[in-house]
Amino acid sequence: MAKEIRAALIGYGGMGHFHASCYPKQQHVKLVAVCDCNPEKFKEKKAEINLGESGDSSLKDIATFGSYEELCRGIRFDMLDICLPCHLHAEYAIRAMRDGYHVLCEKPMARTVAQADRMIRVSRETGRKLMIAQCIRFSPAYRFLKEIHAKKKYGQLLRLDMRRNSTLPKTSWYRDPAKSGGALLDLHLHDTDFINSLLGVPEAVYTQGIERDTGGIDDLMSSYYFAGETVVNSEGSWCKGKWFCSGIAVFRKATLEIINDTQVNIYRTDRKTEEVRFDKDTNPYFNEIAYFADCIRKKTEPEQCMPKSTRDSIRIAAAEERSARTKRKVRLPHGRD
Ligand SMILES: NC(=O)c1ccc[n+]([C@@H]2O[C@H](COP(=O)([O-])OP(=O)(O)OC[C@H]3O[C@@H](n4cnc5c(N)ncnc54)[C@H](O)[C@@H]3O)[C@@H](O)[C@H]2O)c1
Repeated sequence: MAKEIRAALIGYGGMGHFHASCYPKQQHVKLVAVCDCNPEKFKEKKAEINLGESGDSSLKDIATFGSYEELCRGIRFDMLDICLPCHLHAEYAIRAMRDGYHVLCEKPMARTVAQADRMIRVSRETGRKLMIAQCIRFSPAYRFLKEIHAKKKYGQLLRLDMRRNSTLPKTSWYRDPAKSGGALLDLHLHDTDFINSLLGVPEAVYTQGIERDTGGIDDLMSSYYFAGETVVNSEGSWCKGKWFCSGIAVFRKATLEIINDTQVNIYRTDRKTEEVRFDKDTNPYFNEIAYFADCIRKKTEPEQCMPKSTRDSIRIAAAEERSARTKRKVRLPHGRD
């Protein structure tokens, strides 16, 4: 098996600090360099974003660079961890794969489906691995729900309600929907992607949304239509003042409530309740980095979060945006777009 993987991170803002703070405890991957076009960022030992504070992300013994070109010239590495604003994901992921690096890229995969398709094509052409850091696929609580569903432990899933609310993020690019895609693509996509990973691409979506702060869809409620009986709804917002997320799954024999990454409550129809707590591997950012590095070492494809699947999540989100703008149900034909 390959040696320790050497990672370089580009975009040392809020999420860059979250990722950087996960590397010191990794077993098989080491952060060797960080790159940001704003050198002031290298002075910040922690970052605070809408969902909370990163861990300690000090750059002791880590090389710093002011541009991607300097980074590539200055140090040897195997994988690029992209924590850049959304509109730059495709450009840098494609450059990096063409330059021979494996790419772990923050969500959303790209600003458009066409960009996501190009990323997948270049990954195939170059043989470089590509994985999108859809963190809740790596959260123990969400994974638990997926497992219960797959094993049909409590019977059929009848209804799923997802919710993710916060304030408008601080950095300016978020306020430009051409760059961020608004709350719909930036925040709500987490739940769109989870629904996709659980149930696949819906047959249609209906979204009601509002513009308030950015000109993008800042607050929305979506319904997803699947063949069969499952009723699926999801709400996302940058207008709700503080961070709050939840997931409630109503199965025939029990209701599961995701409290956070570390706890799920189970309310059974026989009136017994159970709290399931996870105390190991609870940091989804840590988990996604470890998983991707392991795929590189073992020369396997990242099946837990395949690019084709995260690309479909961008496609669903685009349909949600179309629905919100046209006030109509939008169909998602299977097969070719
Ligand atoms: N998974 C999650 O829970 C989660 C949470 C927040 C943000 N994100 C995602 O992380 C990504 C980054 O968001 P953020 O909040 O950290 O943004 P940010 O604005 O805080 O950080 C982006 C950084 O990139 C740097 N940068 C911009 N262009 C650059 C370039 N060409 N070369 C080098 N550096 C450059 C900026 O100086 C900045 O420091 C986004 O895609 C966002 O959606 C994910």
